[in-house]
Amino acid sequence: MRDSTDATVAIIVLAAGLGTRMKSKKAKVLHRAGGRTLIEHVVRMCCRVAPPENVVVVVGHQAEQVQQAVRSYGVRFALQKEQLGTGHAVMAAREAVEGRADYVAVLYGDGPLLEEATLRALIEKEQGSTAAATIITTVLEDPTGYGRVITGSGGRIERVVEQKAATPEQLAIKVVNSGIYCFRAEQLWKHIAELTTDNPAGEYYLTDMVEVLRRAGHDVETMMVEDSSQLLGINTRVELAVVDRILRQRKVREAMLAGVTVEKPETVTIDPDVEIGRDTIVGPFAQILGRTKIGEDCVVGAGSLIRDSEIGPGAEVGPLTVIEEASIGAGVRVGPYARLRAGSRVAAGAAVGNFVEMKKAELGEGSKALHLAYLGDAFIGPGVNVGAGTITCNYDGVTKHRTEIGGGAFIGSNSTLVAPVKIGDGAYVGAGSVITKDVPPDALALGRSRQEVKEGWAARRRRKTGRGG
Ligand code: UD1
Ligand code: MG
Repeated sequence: MRDSTDATVAIIVLAAGLGTRMKSKKAKVLHRAGGRTLIEHVVRMCCRVAPPENVVVVVGHQAEQVQQAVRSYGVRFALQKEQLGTGHAVMAAREAVEGRADYVAVLYGDGPLLEEATLRALIEKEQGSTAAATIITTVLEDPTGYGRVITGSGGRIERVVEQKAATPEQLAIKVVNSGIYCFRAEQLWKHIAELTTDNPAGEYYLTDMVEVLRRAGHDVETMMVEDSSQLLGINTRVELAVVDRILRQRKVREAMLAGVTVEKPETVTIDPDVEIGRDTIVGPFAQILGRTKIGEDCVVGAGSLIRDSEIGPGAEVGPLTVIEEASIGAGVRVGPYARLRAGSRVAAGAAVGNFVEMKKAELGEGSKALHLAYLGDAFIGPGVNVGAGTITCNYDGVTKHRTEIGGGAFIGSNSTLVAPVKIGDGAYVGAGSVITKDVPPDALALGRSRQEVKEGWAARRRRKTGRGG
């Protein structure tokens, strides 16, 4: 596949509609499938085919948010204040597009599966013909909702009939309009004003351009695409889920072909920008999201969620572990049932066990926190043993404070470290201590009441009350 863009082409992406059938407050193209908004999928692909300044996105509903979602690509925008139909949306883009390119491709922002090669093929077909437009068509077993392609004698496309306007015979047609077109710019702009609202929806239908161009004596070509899955448009949340699944399958497959073992791949979610090294094993129901990077030879346990994090080579993330905006070094073991929150760093060879929560905390090389602890706003040196139930009390009700634990220290089980506090290198904290003052290196700190033993007390009590064995 080539990687140069075609400057003779401009692309209009229609994204102004609310998407009534989504039953949502949010504009349809801002919904996500396969880890990206629908509009981002389409715009990314367009920018590989035409220069970004030739890509014009028509916005209307939640225009600001839609622009925000794709502004970084360097595309331009046209505002369609009132959404009077897909033809009207193209009219809204006219000023931004006219005179920039010989060919104008039009795509809908609700079709995120279209592949670059298909769009290129459409444009090339139009460029190689004398037709005023070429339209991608496909055959759908269930064509409900799509515009049906009406052909005349000789099998040439005559017009597109929308679902709402179609007769029962027309509804039985399975050849549909994909909503992906390439027009000869001159003919598009010459004739677009001939669209009318003379249809049951009272909208300017872009699909009527077929009839308009045919009436003006031009040919319109079709390009039949067999793989109809890449032409699916999203109008409902059911279709959103179908497309999400297809995009997820593409990414998981890509990971597997690159050397990652994925168990029960149909249950695994991997976002598009995630990188995973070879021979890593991903368990069922894992979710690996955002900009996560996972090294080689790792294990990602079943049902764990990893977002925007870095996992070093050979690390093992136990089942049902949540890691967000954190990094773990080579050979680290985390989980099962651990939670690493933003700013957590676990150095090489360290281990974090079940029901341990970390937030903005560093755990040094070879250190261990294996059971039931909260480590927040903490710096923990190398070779430290953090006993079960250790809590860093980082919050005094107003501000957060830091805990520092020096290398080789031993924190006994059920210790409460009231920050700000420092435990020196090699120091010991006795189990069950409440530590409110700094502990010097190599010291033993005990912050608990001394144990009292009353010999024979229980036996005396039993005799007195006459109860118990
Ligand atoms: C459209 C086509 C239909 C085709 C189908 C393919 C028309 C009239 N119909 O129907 O033939 O089979 O797509 O998926 O074109 N939009 C605007 N401004 C508007 C109206 C819509 O920008 O005034 C945008 C929407 O945000 C959306 C896209 O155009 O991204 C398509 O609109 P939608 O309402 O989904 O059209 P369909 O009913 O799917
Ligand atoms: Mg649609």
